[in-house]
Amino acid sequence: MHRDVTGMNTYNYGEALYWDARYIQEAAAGSFDWYQRYSALRPFVRKYVPTSSRILMVGCGNAVMSEDMVKDGYEEIINIDISSVAIDMMRRKYEHLPQLEYMQMDVRDMSFFVDESFDSVIDKGTLDSLMCGAGAPISAAQMLGEVSRLLKPGGIYMLITYGDPTVRIPHLRRPAYNWKIELYIIPKPGFQRPAGSASSGKSCLEPVPTTDKGLIHPDYVLEDPDSHFIYVCKKMDEATDLPHTSNPFTDDIS
Ligand SMILES: C[S@@+](CC[C@H](N)C(=O)[O-])C[C@H]1O[C@@H](n2cnc3c(N)ncnc32)[C@H](O)[C@@H]1O
Repeated sequence: MHRDVTGMNTYNYGEALYWDARYIQEAAAGSFDWYQRYSALRPFVRKYVPTSSRILMVGCGNAVMSEDMVKDGYEEIINIDISSVAIDMMRRKYEHLPQLEYMQMDVRDMSFFVDESFDSVIDKGTLDSLMCGAGAPISAAQMLGEVSRLLKPGGIYMLITYGDPTVRIPHLRRPAYNWKIELYIIPKPGFQRPAGSASSGKSCLEPVPTTDKGLIHPDYVLEDPDSHFIYVCKKMDEATDLPHTSNPFTDDIS
């Protein structure tokens, strides 16, 4: 599932004003899940995120993903979004579901939460929004630094994005995070292989082979050019040598 974003000011994507206006305008339409529905993501979520996990859903919007996860047995999902309009709507909609909590918050500053307080952080399209906004590299580093801080050792940051490794790995492979990253690629919903073309035979449930730099191995055939990418980032137990700067999460970002 993908929305047409042509004609919109890209510098607004990380800001509340843009999203509030959008959620007001689209209120009648109800919910919308960007990129993929939970049914397609379920094999990955269930593989890496136990149902007893304390989960942070960053930039939840008005997606039904969290509701679907609760129906599938998940017990505690804290949902945050910069848009108070989206949060108010979702809080009302799900007041009968104690497993879901909704809070207005900027992913770049989640100081409300203490360090290492989540088993998993799930992000479907939110880093993407920041990457389209003004000051993208700084915003991305602030967000990812916060995600890293909030994850328990061994915790998982699952990023579902349209960004391939050439544009996402440089942000994810920063030594300060100490993440071990696995990559999966799934076709956009509705993708049909061109008539007569043979399947590569590979299951999208298998991690994609990557190079030392975290890029897709040159032998890998990407069947759908509009595929979505799932980065499963595991926070390793032992911190590697952190750079001796005042803020290792942002100081090397220009
Ligand atoms: C592309 S939408 C994805 C929504 C939802 N995750 C989904 O899969 O349908 C991006 C969401 O990120 C939120 N967002 C953008 N910038 C944010 C920020 N700085 N802090 C928190 N949420 C933000 C937007 O309000 C929007 O709901």
